Amino acid sequence: MIKEIELSNFKSHKKTQLKFTERNNIFIGISGSGKSTILDAICFAFFGTTPKIHKRKIRVSDLIMNKPIREESAKIKINFEVDKKKYEIRREICLDRPPNAELRENEKLIAINQAQVTEAVEHILKIDYELFSRAIYAEQDHLDYFLTLPPGNRIEYIDQLLKLSKFELARIKTTSISNKFKSLKNAKEETLSGFDENELKNTKKEAEDYLGKLNDEISSSKDKIKKLDATLKENMEKLKNLKEKKIKIEEKKNK
Ligand SMILES: Nc1ncnc2c1ncn2[C@@H]1O[C@H](COP(=O)(O)OP(=O)(O)O)[C@@H](O)[C@H]1O
Ligand SMILES: [Mg+2]
Repeated sequence: MIKEIELSNFKSHKKTQLKFTERNNIFIGISGSGKSTILDAICFAFFGTTPKIHKRKIRVSDLIMNKPIREESAKIKINFEVDKKKYEIRREICLDRPPNAELRENEKLIAINQAQVTEAVEHILKIDYELFSRAIYAEQDHLDYFLTLPPGNRIEYIDQLLKLSKFELARIKTTSISNKFKSLKNAKEETLSGFDENELKNTKKEAEDYLGKLNDEISSSKDKIKKLDATLKENMEKLKNLKEKKIKIEEKKNK
């Protein structure tokens, strides 16, 4: 809910502060008193644009007060609440430099330029400028948007606006994924149907028994190898001794 809005040098508003109450808030004033400008200001505060800027009928700098005197900058501050969190947006439009913007959530700064603020607002409000400008804030002469949609395309346009088409896409994708899994499941089931469960269990048991025996053989073979290694070492030692003796005998023989 929008709690408060403050405009400075924003079009015809020199300094305007408005506090909103729950439920309906109505602006009453003669033509040209600045009612639509307040809605434009709310739109600009949230999304950094207005329908006229969006359609390039005016420039952002045209939002700065230009009469009775040309001001250098315009400011908007808006306070609103979503899910018990307090938000404050400030945007400043200047003649000689790009606009500034900041967004605070419970007084903590969470976005520091135009694009960041707009992106964060879209996230917080869960709507973007397109939806806001069509379904929530309709310009005076565009209140009949939904009525003027060609009947054949009405659902398509509304789906597009509410971004429902991505759900349709997700539905189609989910169906194709589900079909893929179904055919995989069928293929596996077909493969499995060629096997007899009891027969498989028996084969498994036999294989396990055989594996057990092989393991036993391996460990007894390891023991044998160990023993053979020791014998080999012993015999090598003996051979060495014999060779030494042989050399000594031959030396004696020569003498
Ligand atoms: N940049 C500007 N500086 C000063 N006044 C402006 C500017 N742009 C528009 N206006 C004035 O704002 C008024 C239009 O306000 P608007 O919000 O449309 O009134 P309402 O909706 O109450 O009829 C006009 O009188 C117009 O001259
Ligand atoms: Mg108006």
